[in-house]
Amino acid sequence: MKICSIGAGYVGGPTMVVIAEQCPEIQVRVTDINQQRIDAWNSDQLPVYEPGLAETVKKLRGRNLSFTTDIDTAIQESDVIFLSVNTPTKQYGEGAGKASDLKYIVSAVERIAALATSDKIIVEKSTLPVCTANKLRAILASNPHQCHFEILSNPEFMAEGTAMQDLRHPDRILIGGEQTESGKQAIQTLVDVYAHWVPREKIITQNLWSSELSKLSANAFLAQRISSINALSALCECSGADVDEISRAIGADSRIGAKFLKSSVGFGGSCFKKDLLNLIYLCESFGLKESALYWQQVVDMNEHQKHRFARLILEKLFNTLSGKKIAIFGFAFKQDTNDTRESPAITVCQDLLKEQAFLSIYDPRVPETVIRTDLAGYPSDAIEVVSDPEQAARGSYAIVILTEGEPFISLNYKHLYTLMKRPTFLFDGRNGLDLDQIRSFGFNAYGIGKKR
Ligand code: UDX
Ligand code: ADP
Repeated sequence: MKICSIGAGYVGGPTMVVIAEQCPEIQVRVTDINQQRIDAWNSDQLPVYEPGLAETVKKLRGRNLSFTTDIDTAIQESDVIFLSVNTPTKQYGEGAGKASDLKYIVSAVERIAALATSDKIIVEKSTLPVCTANKLRAILASNPHQCHFEILSNPEFMAEGTAMQDLRHPDRILIGGEQTESGKQAIQTLVDVYAHWVPREKIITQNLWSSELSKLSANAFLAQRISSINALSALCECSGADVDEISRAIGADSRIGAKFLKSSVGFGGSCFKKDLLNLIYLCESFGLKESALYWQQVVDMNEHQKHRFARLILEKLFNTLSGKKIAIFGFAFKQDTNDTRESPAITVCQDLLKEQAFLSIYDPRVPETVIRTDLAGYPSDAIEVVSDPEQAARGSYAIVILTEGEPFISLNYKHLYTLMKRPTFLFDGRNGLDLDQIRSFGFNAYGIGKKR
């Protein structure tokens, strides 16, 4: 059996690597139009950082895993083709700012329609709006060889930073397909692939439309939990309650559960906002105004939380940041990733730059060019990107933590304090530090949802 992925990004790359790892008899090809990206996959500097990924790629490359820009051969030779191209929010025309931009998916499927000379299973891996399969089917009908195509939906639930772990030990695998004889056969083919390593009871099969909508729904629910706890964080700050204690109390209710209740400066990443906007757009297109407004509020709350945090910094620094140096620790949207898409750090930094602050940014995973592109449009001499936290802290008035976890929480804050200007502030946008201890070093310290 031969499998390929069209798209070698954060989704297509790691997913194919784990399939190749778990199914040694299957030939897996990862393809992309971007030559640079493919070259990077074939080098020691992979384009995607994920713990455990590089070692696995090294082991499998040249065995049953390869990376190539020869998409045409991959299409012709593969039995199963995964569509793992990007589906960003549309920036133009009808549905701009909300709908998914399907141009990459459409162009990949047009290529399959033009080239396929044998029957294929096409797997929607990218997150797509419900009913996309209908559009893809219409495109595939133009195939000159009248090949038979079955479309399956197999959404990815892996999170960045834990992708390898999520892929190797998934909570569930979702496979949606048509409930016809050939549809069921195609579903079984994909079930057999995953059954190499996933217990059968964790593989859920369902109809195509449910599967397409399940992915958006799962992300909307996760984002909603974060916006809900963040809405409570503001109330905690006024009332003296502690948001972490609230999370613990409600998370201990087994009906609610403890995960995704960590209050923060806001959620980021390529999925949550995009999928929420897509869901809102779908609701609107079906005339469901109230449902659209309901989900819109989850997005609005998240935007509000980012601005609220930036305003706190301004207010505590005596309402003027002009010319003041501020150290920013963390720019990625979460720990263990180099990805900055929709990172709350972008909004917070922009708000601080609007106040004419001077930002010294430290995030060892994110290249300077990416940070500068994300903050384009603001004076470049108001930003420095450093590889040493001491350099960021030296001469600054405040440290602002915007990404959770390592390498930021284990820094020597007692020492950093000695390098900074007085009065000295620390704003923890991820509630990872013990603020009482930080205060004992001399900082004025503030967290999210913590008593002010
Ligand atoms: C998400 C989904 O988890 C995954 O299933 C889906 O397939 C893709 O989208 P990802 O975007 O990689 O994954 O990251 P995730 O771990 O979900 O975190 C998203 C954002 O929420 C991050 O900015 C994170 O810092 C924030 N977050 C998460 C919180 O603020 N609080 C929490 O309790 C959890
Ligand atoms: P995701 O996080 O969804 O994986 P990425 O942007 O990281 O998104 O990856 C998507 C990849 O798909 C990119 O590397 C892009 O070059 C590739 N791609 C987009 N359109 C096509 C296409 N028609 N054929 C092949 N690859 C494509």
